[in-house]
Amino acid sequence: MRTIMLMNSKGGCGKTTLATNIATWFADEGHKVVLADFDPQGSTLDWLAARQDYEGIPEIGGIDAAKGPLNPPRGTDYLIMDAPAAIHGKALSTMLRRVQSMIIPVMPSPIDIRACSRFIEELLTSGHLSRHRTRIAVVANRVRENTIIYHKLEKYLDSLDIPFLTSLRESQNYIRAAERGLGIFEMAPSAVYDDLLQWDPILEWLSSKESLPTPLKKKTKKRA
Ligand SMILES: Nc1ncnc2c1ncn2[C@@H]1O[C@H](COP(=O)(O)OP(=O)(O)O)[C@@H](O)[C@H]1O
Ligand SMILES: [Mg+2]
Repeated sequence: MRTIMLMNSKGGCGKTTLATNIATWFADEGHKVVLADFDPQGSTLDWLAARQDYEGIPEIGGIDAAKGPLNPPRGTDYLIMDAPAAIHGKALSTMLRRVQSMIIPVMPSPIDIRACSRFIEELLTSGHLSRHRTRIAVVANRVRENTIIYHKLEKYLDSLDIPFLTSLRESQNYIRAAERGLGIFEMAPSAVYDDLLQWDPILEWLSSKESLPTPLKKKTKKRA
């Protein structure tokens, strides 16, 4: 089972949006997908409830991980986890134990950039990542190109020692899709063409070995 988590210490940066869209991508590809919502606000579960109104779209399972245990059903191919906003220390480490790939969405705003840099600093220096071998990448979200703050964000994300996959533009398509419990991959392709192009690097990363935990090195016995 592949495990993917959307995480950031800041709310409103697009964790639920990315989690639900990634879920629909894999579900539309024919995989068995389960979304785990760790956020007590339950936005992902609301999205799943809206999805029930449609026929002919692939089913996605849901787990209320804010209230109960994280037990994905047998046969789950992809477990996509929508993390709560503020999580640090031991709780963060415990959560990372279950995560192969983590995507951190960041918005172009001074507060978000600062919060994100503190969060990434904590991740990189605490040893949580290396202990659990979780791979991480960042994505800029709700971007308006040609704004000073976007250039600042781009510069900051480029400077990090982790992959900066793509920038997703600010687009009503995400809001329209979310209202209906759909992903942008399930909308009329002509309406979402520009958005879909921006998703390619995310899907490529998630499908590549680069997003899988680094293999453990075998201990070599020293010859006498
Ligand atoms: N690229 C985007 N363009 C437009 N609206 C977006 C985009 N990404 C997220 N949103 C909207 O911003 C709000 C916060 O996003 P959300 O995914 O719920 O963040 P989080 O889960 O991190 O709190 C939601 O209303 C969502 O629909
Ligand atoms: Mg959310």
